[in-house]
This record gives sequence, C-alpha cells and structure tokens, in this order.
Amino acid sequence: MHLKQNKHLVLGITGGIAAYKAAELVRLLVKAGIDVQVVMTTAACQFITPITMQALSGKPVFIDMWDNSISNGMPHIELSRMADAILVAPASADFIAKLMHGRADDLLSTLCLARDCPLLIAPAMNKQMWENPATQRNIAQLKADNISILGPGSGEQACGEIGLGRMLEAEDLLALVNAHFTPKLLAGKRVLITAGATLEMIDPVRAITNLSSGKMGYAIAQAAVDMGAEVTLVSGASTLSTPTGVANIKADSANAMYNAVMNNIIKQDIFIAVAAVVDYSPADQSTQKIKKSEASLTLHLRRNKDILAEVASLPDAPFCVGFAAESEHLIEHASQKRLAKKIPLIVANLVCESMGKDEANITLLDDTGAHPLARADKAMLAHELLVHISNMITQ
Ligand code: CTP
Repeated sequence: MHLKQNKHLVLGITGGIAAYKAAELVRLLVKAGIDVQVVMTTAACQFITPITMQALSGKPVFIDMWDNSISNGMPHIELSRMADAILVAPASADFIAKLMHGRADDLLSTLCLARDCPLLIAPAMNKQMWENPATQRNIAQLKADNISILGPGSGEQACGEIGLGRMLEAEDLLALVNAHFTPKLLAGKRVLITAGATLEMIDPVRAITNLSSGKMGYAIAQAAVDMGAEVTLVSGASTLSTPTGVANIKADSANAMYNAVMNNIIKQDIFIAVAAVVDYSPADQSTQKIKKSEASLTLHLRRNKDILAEVASLPDAPFCVGFAAESEHLIEHASQKRLAKKIPLIVANLVCESMGKDEANITLLDDTGAHPLARADKAMLAHELLVHISNMITQ
C-alpha cells in the first residue's frame, strides 16, 4: 500500500535480539512507500549489521554522534528535523530508561531528545525486565510525555521464557505506523461493515456459499480504524485476522448477519455492506446428513433478506454504501442496484478482477456519476473509498 509517500521515518534500532525483526520492518516500510532513515546504537550493531539495514533502506545508516557526513555537523538536529516521526524498534529496557531521564549520550538518544516530531517505541525485552517496577515506572512516564508505546506482545521469548515483552511483529508495527500517518478523517464516526461470504447450511456437512475472501471488507475496517473511526465488523466466513481495534462479530449465515447488523445499527454513522451475502438459503435445513438415493435431488431455496436495502430504508438510516459484484454490464447493473437499494454510493467491481484477489479495479458510483479508481491493492482502495465517503458526508 502506497499511502504514505513523502513521509519520512527515522527508525532507531537499539541492542536486543529483536533487532533481527527490524530488517523485515524496514523492508515493509520501504515497500509501503515510506522513506526510512535507520539510526542504530552501537549495541544494536552486535545483533544486526548496519550493512543489512543500509541495503534494505537504501541509505547509509547513522550510528555515530560525531558523524561528519552531515553538512552542519549536527546529525541529531538534521535527522530529527527531516523526520515526520521517529520509531525505536526494538526499544531495549536500557534505552527506555535513558529516554525517561532525557539522557543524550549517543546519537539515537540525542535525536530523540532533540526531536520536534512524534516518537513511537516498540519495547522488546525479557518478561521479568518488562514487569520490573522500574521499567513500568519508566513506561508510565513516557506515556505521560506523549510517547506512543507499541506493544509489547506476549509469547515465547528468545531466552526460552514465555510472557509479555516480545517486540510486535513487523507487520503489526507497519500497520501502527500507517495508522499514525493517516489523517483522522473519520474521528468520532461509527462505522459498521459487513464482510466475507455467508454460509447457508443444507445439512450438517454441506452448504451453499461463494468465493468471497473478506479481504476488501477487512481492509476497509483497518483503514476506517486508521482514520479514527469506531469500527464494528460483522463477518461471515473468512480466515483473515481481525484488525487491532475492530470489534468483530461473527455471523455465518445471511440470517445471522442480518440479525447482527440490525442489533448494532443504532447510532452508526456509516454502513458499508461489503459481504457477499448468499441470496437464497435452503428452506429446510436437514439435521442429518442427506443420503444419496435418487438420481437427482431438488433443493427448495428461500430468498434471504437484503440487509443493505433494509438498513437503507430505516427511518434514521446511516450513510449507506453498497458493493456490486458483477460479471457483465458492470456500470449499468451497479447503477441499477444503487437506485433499487436507495443508497448514495455503490462500489462497482467485476468478479473476475477482484474476488479473492489482493488487488482490484473498482468504480465509485454516486449522484455525481462514475469515479473509476486506478487498479491497486485493497488497502489502498479502502483508503480511497473512505476519503470519498468522508467528502460526501461532510459536504
Ligand atoms: N447485500 C445485502 N444483503 C443481501 C444481498 C446483498 O446486504 N441479502 C448487499 C451486499 O453486501 C452488497 C450489495 O447488497 O453491498 C449488492 O450485493 P450483490 O450480491 O452484488 O447484489 P444483490 O443485491 O444480491 O443482487 P444480484 O445477486 O441479483 O446481483
């Protein structure tokens, strides 16, 4: 996802075994379009080499306070002024203690002290060190000083012990950095999203479903949280993990999804129906496995309620957005769907170009016409869709 062009991040690496994860983190940050300048402590160089970080970030790594390659001879000022944020990952217990005291005895601690941008730290240490009252006092003070603490996570540690203290994984840190850089266009808004496929059981082992992966709905949930919204996801079948900060209500069938949406619709500002809801369910679900006997079998199917149309017709309806997955006559069918469901905005996409894929081609259809978006990954499209929605609701 390339949302953050022109964003400059100083990535500080301190001495801890989790420094190996910083290599993957740099790769993901650079891939996401973020300009990364790595600064390492001398202890960090014991765990991972500056050459590795230089190769991944595409820039020389700064370590030394007295580096004379910076023209004004003040790397701590120069590096912090060009940064939109500083992330220290991993942040060791020692570095956290140093930050708490405002000490400045190496390049990284000095530029943290001299910064005029947000500072985020991802602690990484043994669980006893993390739980030590001294570390907890330091963390409480850093929070009071408006420093964002990312993690730590829990799990097996390099020392073999299990508990809190692991540095968050690179993917999680990337998501948090993305969220940090995203303008809070939806602050104070409540957003309800349906996602994934529904599953209509025929008997205990067979079902009617479709090929929806849930990727688009989950990407929208992530982007909405990043933009400051309070997000509830009503999710059918999907193997994706729930974005941090999103309430996920599982609803397997169309009927369960309808009930979950209706139970949560009050006070929502925006409803985005992304789910591929199965239109028909077996009228009578067999409690036992259906045995094969006749040469043919007829299933009696009953039409499911149209969740989106029902929400849009509520007296106090939120701003409703639909998705139209079509196999032909895309714009014509999607436009008809928008009018039939009486919704202000519909997202048109061809099944063959988007269903189950990481990327998609989508066109936004509203009263002002068709707005095709360039093919992109679903995270990027989710962001663009929400910017469009934010513009529509604030007009
Ligand atoms: N939708 C819904 N409840 C249903 C069916 C669809 O909320 N029972 C929503 C979908 O989440 C999507 C929009 O309606 O936002 C359009 O769904 P789609 O499957 O493309 O169209 P349908 O309305 O089901 O019409 P058709 O299957 O005939 O294309």
